[in-house]
Amino acid sequence: MNLAINIDELREARISLTGKVGLVPTMGYLHEGHLSLIRQAKAECEHVILTIFVNPTQFGANEDLSKYPRDMERDLALVKPLGVDLVWTPSAEIMYPTGYQTWVEVEAVSYPLEGANRPGHFKGVATVVAKLFNVTQPDKAYFGQKDAQQVAVIRRMAVDLNFPLDVVVCPTVREADGLAMSSRNKYLEGEYRKAAGVLFKALSAAKLLYEGGERSGEVLKGKMKEVLANEPLAELQYVSCADYDTLKELAIVKGKTLLSMAVLIGKTRLIDNFVLG
Ligand code: PAF
Repeated sequence: MNLAINIDELREARISLTGKVGLVPTMGYLHEGHLSLIRQAKAECEHVILTIFVNPTQFGANEDLSKYPRDMERDLALVKPLGVDLVWTPSAEIMYPTGYQTWVEVEAVSYPLEGANRPGHFKGVATVVAKLFNVTQPDKAYFGQKDAQQVAVIRRMAVDLNFPLDVVVCPTVREADGLAMSSRNKYLEGEYRKAAGVLFKALSAAKLLYEGGERSGEVLKGKMKEVLANEPLAELQYVSCADYDTLKELAIVKGKTLLSMAVLIGKTRLIDNFVLG
């Protein structure tokens, strides 16, 4: 497993990777969800590049970048047995040197849901992912369905900016009670950890209605709200029933649809989603 920090080191190591290359971009503090992306990349590509970079430009002013969990030694030990060829761990100064002033902004699909609650977030995500694509030149790039809007933004960007690669979306990996795996779950303890299972319960209840033939977006959202309201430690930020690609809210569900939500459990903000249809 090769390690690179500088862009020159990365480019030199990349030259020797012939055949299909899969990229798994992460912000580190890896969990089973990330490892499943690496396994899928490994199964579909000759070589796998993993990037670990806590991207400062996707954090808002009120989001504590310095508290984002980090453990490089543990991350490297976790991925070593998986056969990752190259790990790139650039610094913020390498990614955004003095004088930096170029940004990628994906419009409509960035605006609702997470975009409305975290202004500027997707500008930071799209910019860093475009830079990761440019430097690593992958044939395929792997992202988790858990960050559904991020996936929609990156898919749109890859088409609009003619990146010659496939964006591969991998299923959300869950704990036994259904809680979607996330680096932020580390902040959930005791009763808060227990309460966090309510996101999966709310999505499952709405999905059951859908499977029973319900197609009203309002009714499906109402069911999610009802389940969330039964958990005193959960504070709802939004629930949504939207078109999978455009993220426009749907009065009547038809085609591929995204049920999604953001919920505060204590101080920890969690997101989750199910895809219908
Ligand atoms: O999903 C993440 O971990 C990040 O948003 C990503 C895609 C690595 C960009 O910083």
